[in-house]
Amino acid sequence: MKRTLVLTAFVLIGFAATPLLALDNGLARTPPMGWNSWNKFACNVSEDLIRGAADSIVRNGMKEAGYEYVVIDDCWQVSRDVEGNIVPDAKRFPSGMKALGDYIHSKGLKFGIYSDAGRGTCQNRPGSRGYEYQDARQYAAWGVDYLKYDWCNHDTQDSQSSYETMRDALAKSGRPIVFSICEWGSTKPWLWAGSVGNLWRSTGDILDKWDGKEKWGGNGVVQILDLQDGIESYAGPGHWNDPDMLEVGNGGMTDTEYQSHFSLWCLMAAPLMAGNDLEHMSDATKTTLTNKEVIAVDQDAAGIQAKRVRKAGGLEVWVKQMSDGSRAVGLLNRTGVEAEINVAWTELGYPDRLSASVRDLWAHANVGTHKGTYAAKVASHGVMVIRVTPE
Ligand code: GLA
Repeated sequence: MKRTLVLTAFVLIGFAATPLLALDNGLARTPPMGWNSWNKFACNVSEDLIRGAADSIVRNGMKEAGYEYVVIDDCWQVSRDVEGNIVPDAKRFPSGMKALGDYIHSKGLKFGIYSDAGRGTCQNRPGSRGYEYQDARQYAAWGVDYLKYDWCNHDTQDSQSSYETMRDALAKSGRPIVFSICEWGSTKPWLWAGSVGNLWRSTGDILDKWDGKEKWGGNGVVQILDLQDGIESYAGPGHWNDPDMLEVGNGGMTDTEYQSHFSLWCLMAAPLMAGNDLEHMSDATKTTLTNKEVIAVDQDAAGIQAKRVRKAGGLEVWVKQMSDGSRAVGLLNRTGVEAEINVAWTELGYPDRLSASVRDLWAHANVGTHKGTYAAKVASHGVMVIRVTPE
């Protein structure tokens, strides 16, 4: 009996792909959704911008679609006072952070903020090193619900213990605060961050590009996608791989490419942080960001990240197992011309003879019952997202 138990434990541990201890703060049971100022506005943040973003989320249907966290990224902070308290930029945030948090909360949304585990942020504003508990107390007093914690100016610090210090400080603050780790995948956070944060960046910064790479670490959509292949088993409720925030609507890609970027992020159970100008967005951008059927793939309760099951000549198939037993499938065409992509049921883990209904989640249309396989034409740089449900 004892031996069976030991053996069972051994087998479980051996095969448990997700971290055995997930961060125990009860938050982010599905991938967090919201908006972050960085991708579009960089250091140009102010209380007017943030209030405007909160107003837009309510007005344009994004709140109803699930977007919740309004996050101010870098550059809101200017210095520390003589007691070491972090000082927000009084010109850009004249009403103060507590008032801004209250405003965001009055809209039924949540308030997010940014800091850095090193001595300075990536824009050389004060970081939190040595002030972790003081900062966490301050954030809690302001009503902060989400902290993105960056990794610039870390000198010789150890990543895991640096992030653990802030995890413990947030826990001590007494306020539930989602902890978003941003160390760019440099020390393989998927191996250690499950018990430290609710999400962790798995790559360098996203570029507003379909395909491209910058020496400083910037990646296009397909480069980021390739870096997720193989780490999918580390994601799950409360602890997510974060392939970085969305660029949808920022102007560097076509509408098809933005739709594909969004589709792939949803298949990957990625946090969905819009990063565009919400007050001035096109109908195409809004349609992409608020497609509830595709968002439901991202937000599925099982929290299983899609796996790439085929990669051949620029045509790929990504499969996400859903909690109801169906499969969300992404048919990705990376080539420069339209192409037919097929998927075999056996690639989904289904028997060949199974009849399953297929729904196109962008067309919002059922496309019939199929046995063993489904095929469709996919535009260049397009992703068709289908849901395959056994009958
Ligand atoms: C780093 C992060 C970005 C952003 C900037 C802000 O590059 O990865 O997401 O927060 O810093 O300076």
